[in-house]
Parts: sequence; C-alpha cells; structure tokens
Amino acid sequence: MSEQQGRVAVITGAASGIGRGLAEHAGQLAMRLVLADRDRAGLDELASELAARGCEVLEQVTDVSREQDLIALRDAALARFGGIDLLFNNAGVMQTGASWELSEAQWRRMLDINLLGVTNGLRVFVPTLLAQDRPAHIVNTASLAGLLASPFLAAYTVTKQAVVALSEVLHHELAALGAPIGVSVLCPGPVASRIMASDQAGGGAAAALGAQLAQSIRQGMPAAELAAQVFAAIDDKRFWILPHPDFKPALQARTQSILDETNPVFLLADL
Ligand SMILES: NC(=O)c1ccc[n+]([C@@H]2O[C@H](COP(=O)([O-])OP(=O)(O)OC[C@H]3O[C@@H](n4cnc5c(N)ncnc54)[C@H](O)[C@@H]3O)[C@@H](O)[C@H]2O)c1
Repeated sequence: MSEQQGRVAVITGAASGIGRGLAEHAGQLAMRLVLADRDRAGLDELASELAARGCEVLEQVTDVSREQDLIALRDAALARFGGIDLLFNNAGVMQTGASWELSEAQWRRMLDINLLGVTNGLRVFVPTLLAQDRPAHIVNTASLAGLLASPFLAAYTVTKQAVVALSEVLHHELAALGAPIGVSVLCPGPVASRIMASDQAGGGAAAALGAQLAQSIRQGMPAAELAAQVFAAIDDKRFWILPHPDFKPALQARTQSILDETNPVFLLADL
C-alpha cells in the first residue's frame, strides 16, 4: 500500500502534459484528486478517465493568474475532501522571442501565469497547510530554464528562475517555522507535452530556437516517467528534482563560471 493512498493532491495545469502525468500517477496511488486547469474540455476528459478507474476526483476550471480562482479551488477542495496533502503549482505557458522584441503584454502574460500563478498558489494554500498541522508537500514546476539561460527565451527563463528562487526561499521559511511541509522544485528538460501550442511565436532569430525546442519536446521524456520521478522525490522529501541528468555538466560549468567570474558560454546548443 502506498503511503500516498487516500491523501489529497491539488494539481494546477492538470489537463495536459506534465500535470496530466502527475494526476494519472496520483490516481494510480489511490490519492484523492483536485484537478485544476483553464481548459474545461481537457479537464472533463481527464476527470472522466480517472473516475472510470475508480478515482475520487474534483475538477474545477481555474485560471492560476486569478487569485479568486485559487481561493475558490481551495474552498472546493476543503469542502469535498476536508484537507490537502500535496500541492502542485504546475500550470505554465511558453514564450519564445528576443529579450528586446517581446511586447509588454507578452511579458505580463508570462509573469501573470508562470510566476504569479505560483505566488497566488502559495498565498492561498500555505496558510491552510500550516493550519492543518500535519505533513504536506508542495511541488513547484520550474524548468531547466530556471537554472540555465538560453538565448531567445527571455520571458520564460526569467519566470522559471524566479520560481526556483521562490521555492528555495519557501523551503527556508517553512524550515524556520519547523512546519511539517516539504518543498520541491521540479526542473525538467524536455517532456512530451503541448506547451509549444501556448507560444506566441514571433519570427527572426527566435524562430530557429522555437523549432529546436518544439522538436525536443515532441521527443521528450514521457510525462508518466517524469511523474514517477517526482513522486519518488516527494517520498524522499527531496528539494531539487532534475530528471534530465544530461544537463548537469552545463549547470556545473555555469556555476564554475560564476565562481571564476568568467563570461557565460551557452552549452545547451550542443545537446
Ligand atoms: N514540457 C516541457 O518540456 C517542460 C519542461 C520544463 C518545464 N515545463 C513546465 O511544466 C509545466 C506544465 O507544462 P507542460 O509542458 O505540461 O505543458 P502543457 O501545455 O501540455 O500543459 C500545461 C497546462 O497548463 C494549463 N494552463 C496554462 N495556463 C493556465 C492558467 N493560467 N491557469 C490554469 N491552467 C493553465 C494549460 O491549459 C495546460 O493544460 C509548465 O509550468 C512548464 O513551464 C515543461
């Protein structure tokens, strides 16, 4: 019997890709599921599939960039299941484009969803988790882009590096309080998903990066494989989740270049 059986998982961006993989894995562990996404049709399809397998599921259309949506999600989860054990702040979108070409609206969309979606999740859910005074765990989905900078990916990189920083701060804060709440930050490389459909792609030099990214995501790690790694990390109470070890030499080289104060070299192009 899994130690997660019967526990309640809230997953944002559940209707597709990584979120869907997490939901299906949690369903296999007989967790009770709170599925949130702004894609109603995708949510309906996943919820029916999981319910048909005997899972207890609550689905709620939610836009993570709207605090009131997350408050309604939390209240619905508590009304239905009486508590929350796992929170996955996972919803996110893509934006390619040169730093100086992205419009203010494109920057705001990325900040609103990829960063404020997570800060909203924390503001709304952490007080509930603290008040429950029982073990809980939060997983924030960042990206490899949260650790390494790629050209023509400015807005995505900025939001994901912010999510890594936020998660590390949160980890220290909860530890300082002695709260029984673990934190993980998920930093995957390419995972098969529909994220490139959310890219408001421009043209020019960024187009080549967009095409390369789309190709590696098409051939990326299956979401089911990623989800198994995420749940293993939760069981281990591990903060860093880096499911693509091929990228570690680039991360090591970046860290060394900071310590040596040498100029950044973009190494991911060779991978
Ligand atoms: N796929 C990858 O290679 C990869 C790698 C690293 C990190 N990530 C991150 O993983 C997370 C999930 O992305 P994915 O790859 O599964 O993409 P996806 O597009 O397949 O799934 C993302 C889901 O989030 C939902 N969503 C988007 N904006 C939302 C909002 N404002 N409110 C609620 N739901 C919203 C979408 O409807 C979709 O169902 C994202 O944060 C992404 O940045 C993905």
